[in-house]
Amino acid sequence: MPLALVTGGAVRLGAATSKALAAAGFDVVVHARRSLAEAEALVQELRDLGRQAAVAVADLATPDGPGELAAQVRERSGALDLLVNNAARYEHLAFEAITRERLEAMLAVNLRAPFLLTQALLPALRAASGCVVNITDMAVSHPYTVTHAFSHYLASKAALEQLTRAWALELGPQVRVNAVAPGPVAMAGETTDEQRQDILRRTPLRREGSPEDIARAVVFLATAPYVTGQTLRVDGGLSVA
Ligand SMILES: NC(=O)c1ccc[n+]([C@@H]2O[C@H](COP(=O)([O-])OP(=O)(O)OC[C@H]3O[C@@H](n4cnc5c(N)ncnc54)[C@H](OP(=O)(O)O)[C@@H]3O)[C@@H](O)[C@H]2O)c1
Repeated sequence: MPLALVTGGAVRLGAATSKALAAAGFDVVVHARRSLAEAEALVQELRDLGRQAAVAVADLATPDGPGELAAQVRERSGALDLLVNNAARYEHLAFEAITRERLEAMLAVNLRAPFLLTQALLPALRAASGCVVNITDMAVSHPYTVTHAFSHYLASKAALEQLTRAWALELGPQVRVNAVAPGPVAMAGETTDEQRQDILRRTPLRREGSPEDIARAVVFLATAPYVTGQTLRVDGGLSVA
C-alpha cells in the first residue's frame, strides 16, 4: 500500500484528508501536536477501513520538530508516497499589531516546518517516486476577496506557494509537488457572521467549502501523474468573482 503523512492530520481539513486518502488506498501517518485523542480515534477509524495507520506527535513550531517528525516516519518506512503539508497557524492581526514574536511564530509553523520536513523526507519521497501537496490559501492570489488583517499569515502561505513551484522544478522527475489553495472552509473563530455572509454572497457556488471538498482535491493531485508545480484553488469560484 502507498504511504501518506498528513501534518495536522487529526482535525478538520487534515482529518478529512487522512480519511479520503485511506479510502483511496493509502496507509496514513496522522501527525498531531495537541489533538492526540482525535488522532487516536481517527487512526482506529482508518484501521477499521483495512489500512495501516499510526499517530506521530511533534510540535512543528520548534526548530527540531520537523526533524523529529521525519524520524518517526522513517522508522516506519524508508519510502513515502505522499507528504501533505497541512498543519498551519492562523490569526487576524492588523499589521501594526504583529510583533516580531508573532511573525516568527507564524513563519515557523507555516513556512520553516514544511521546508525542513520536506527536506528531511526527500530521500523517502524519492525512494517512492512520491509527491508533496502543500495546503496554501486562495487569498495568496486574491487577498482582496477576504480579510486584510493577516499579512504575516498571507506572507507565509505565499512563500509556500512559491516553494511549490520551485520544488516542482528542482525535484522532478522523481517527485511531484503541487498545492491546494482552499477558499473559505468551515469558517469559525475569527470570522464574524457578517463577514461570512459577505463572502458567501460573492462566492459563485454560494456556500462555504467542506473539509471533504479540500480532501478530494488532495487525493486528485496525489494520483495525477502528469501534474506538478500547480496550485488547485478549491474556493467555490470566489477567486473569479
Ligand atoms: N479553514 C479554512 O477556511 C482555510 C482556508 C484557507 C486555507 N486553509 C488551510 O488549510 C489547512 C487546514 O486548515 P484548518 O482550518 O483545518 O486548520 P486548523 O483547524 O486551524 O488546524 C490546524 C492544524 O495545524 C496543526 N498545528 C497548528 N500549529 C501546530 C504546531 N505548532 N505544530 C504542529 N501542528 C500544528 C494543528 O494540530 P493540533 O490540533 O494537533 O495541535 C491542527 O491539526 C491549513 O494549512 C490552513 O492554513 C484553511
